[in-house]
Amino acid sequence: MNLALDSFEFGLHTQIYYGVNKLNELPDIIRKYNYKKVFICTDKGIVHSGNLNRLENLLNQAGIDFFTFTDVEPDPSTEIVQHVKNLYIENGCDALIGMGGGSSIDTAKGVSIAVANPGDLNQYEGKDKIPNKGPDIIAIPTTAGTGSEITHATVLKDKKRHYKMGILSQKLHAKAAILDPQLLTTVPRGVAAITGMDALSHAIESYTSNQAQPITEALGLYAIRLIGKHLRPFVAQRTDINAASHMMLASTIAGAAFIWGRVAAVHAVSHPLGGRLGVAHGLANSLLLPVVMRYNVSTNYEKFRDIAIALGENVEGLSLREAAERSIVAVEQLIQDLEIPTTLNALNLHPSDEELDVIAQEAFQSGIANANPKDCTVADLRKMIEKIR
Ligand SMILES: [Fe+2]
Repeated sequence: MNLALDSFEFGLHTQIYYGVNKLNELPDIIRKYNYKKVFICTDKGIVHSGNLNRLENLLNQAGIDFFTFTDVEPDPSTEIVQHVKNLYIENGCDALIGMGGGSSIDTAKGVSIAVANPGDLNQYEGKDKIPNKGPDIIAIPTTAGTGSEITHATVLKDKKRHYKMGILSQKLHAKAAILDPQLLTTVPRGVAAITGMDALSHAIESYTSNQAQPITEALGLYAIRLIGKHLRPFVAQRTDINAASHMMLASTIAGAAFIWGRVAAVHAVSHPLGGRLGVAHGLANSLLLPVVMRYNVSTNYEKFRDIAIALGENVEGLSLREAAERSIVAVEQLIQDLEIPTTLNALNLHPSDEELDVIAQEAFQSGIANANPKDCTVADLRKMIEKIR
């Protein structure tokens, strides 16, 4: 970006409440915003971890009225959102709490849209298509990855089209996000690994995208550094509260970076990979990230060298190009250390050529790859997919 010629916008809209055991302050936060009855959106994993119990005890002790929905599904669909919306209205709630990973928070965002806007959610796909702002959302992430607690996006599955669509709007920023690293200590190891790779994808894609600007670059690079240092120890031992704390922050900071810096080819392809083949979001990103980095590296050697250094690589004595390419090796090494599979085949997925053609087509049509620093045609995206086959 040439600061003498170019202009940019940046803003954050979510009040962040960070701290170990910060969840204990939830009743005060609800009172501050004057909500009378809150609707909790969560999933069975949060029930089994004991975290929902902790939340409900807090609300009961404070005398705050609530209704709990515990059947959020992975890759939440528009159907489930409409079902939850009916429960929300029937129970007379006036605010939403999304507690869990991206699926719970994205469900809460979907319900907020559906409460205030009529008809099929498909019509709101894309950017700034939502006419009315819905009820407020308090986001309580229990994974370190999606950044949904701070972003303006929700990703919902349209089962009829086997399609994961993004709805982006300023009206979808959570009112508040409670970042309590204690909640991360019960995340299963595999989930910690792939959600961490989702956060790293947000940071690297926003840092290198053609929409990057000084503030998102600062956020993105800092998030990469935090992830480079803390993801391995966090995955090894989720009760390592120091590592958990830094990963919680890295995830939110990377989310803040990609609101304005955007994501690119990795996310363009990972959405249809999820929609068509059911690959979990963070896992799909992990498969694609090194491939896309290799595709993009020549667009900006300085930036990719910065990524290598942020990931802890020693680039002394290397040429600029060698230093830049070291970033890809660093990401591949991280994926190997986290024991994440690197191909669809290793996941026991064997899609046909035709299925992969459709995925490439959908990736292109989503427009997400428009932010990629190097142009992507359908054929380019198809080649990337072939590399992870
Ligand atoms: Fe993501």
